[in-house]
Amino acid sequence: MKISKIVEQIPPSGIRVFFELVLGMKDVISLGVGEPDFVTPWNIRERAIFSLEEGYTSYTSNKGMIELRREIAHHLKTKYGLEYDPEEEILITVGVSEGADLAMRAIIDNGDKILIPEPSYVSYGPIATLCQGKPVYIKTRPDNGFKITSKDIRASCDKKTRALVLNYPNNPTGTTYSKKELKAITRVVSASDLTVISDEIYCDLTYDFNHTPLPTLPGMKERVIYLNGFSKAYAMTGWRIGYACGPRNIIAAMTKIHQYTMMCVPIMSQMAALEALKHGDRSVQEMKREYRRRREFVVSRLNEIGLMCHKPDGAFYAFPSIKNTGLSSMKFAQNLLKEEKVAVVPGTAFGESGEGYVRISYASDLDKLKEALMRMERFLLKARR
Ligand SMILES: Cc1ncc(COP(=O)(O)O)c(C=O)c1O
Repeated sequence: MKISKIVEQIPPSGIRVFFELVLGMKDVISLGVGEPDFVTPWNIRERAIFSLEEGYTSYTSNKGMIELRREIAHHLKTKYGLEYDPEEEILITVGVSEGADLAMRAIIDNGDKILIPEPSYVSYGPIATLCQGKPVYIKTRPDNGFKITSKDIRASCDKKTRALVLNYPNNPTGTTYSKKELKAITRVVSASDLTVISDEIYCDLTYDFNHTPLPTLPGMKERVIYLNGFSKAYAMTGWRIGYACGPRNIIAAMTKIHQYTMMCVPIMSQMAALEALKHGDRSVQEMKREYRRRREFVVSRLNEIGLMCHKPDGAFYAFPSIKNTGLSSMKFAQNLLKEEKVAVVPGTAFGESGEGYVRISYASDLDKLKEALMRMERFLLKARR
């Protein structure tokens, strides 16, 4: 059967391609997947179970339950002083994945350019292409902590540039931005009349300073489509729930697409998310403490065994350089898997500028991380001999 040209043109996810190799291998320690090793906290699971017992099995409003939208508005207001109208400026989505898809579909016309800092989370470019937009990748550099600058943005903009995707803390580099750095970016965003799709899904996993949501900065609320969700901080990847906040015309446009494609997020996931926001913060803090402990261990061990690694500010990924091994990212990952049964993701899965790096997820228990790093050390000793 014939496949649409636009779909044929999109490559399969580099992470998936690599992990096909892992399937079927025994005793592999996988530091590959980007999801918490924790199970969703019990009170959240229990709320969903109870909602089923109570008979909540129907569709909800397309925008999502108003109680949940109100709770999100309350959460953003109390935590960040950020105000969104739950009636018209918030949409509950099937994860941030759907939020990113809807955001791009709502704003992109044929040939519009979308700036994407690279290395980048794997979905943005393909979604932009599916919308008939043109992803323009902006390479970030390790000597600048993989941060995009206003100069980079200015140099990449032309008349067709419609939007910028920001993701901080970042997958795969763990990099995030201070308020001051964000402010510098907002100046060029305004001057170039860009919309920003701001994926802040890892915001609660910022370790060394407070996270600044982009729409809290002057002039940004009317330009930003703010995406967030429950997958990472609340260990709720399987529940498929997130949310988008933005100007009402944008949320209305996104809702229109969502109406025809998803209708609504499953009601039990919405019930669970409501519980997460009301009573989940303690669990988030406990998980965050554990991630921080693992980050200290992983980063210091990587540097000790000779893989230079900057300290990630957030998320749960380390992104060490493997350049001094002389291997490409793919070869390094393949050999490490074959020889020591440790799976990491080649940096090139996140774009060309990921060459020379691998992504290591530390959302794995400390004993496993210790064993994995011991095996990596052995692998490097053999490779250097
Ligand atoms: C940066 C980023 N955005 C979005 C997602 C997808 O999140 P969700 O599970 O909410 O769809 C991920 C998942 O790895 C991610 O790393």
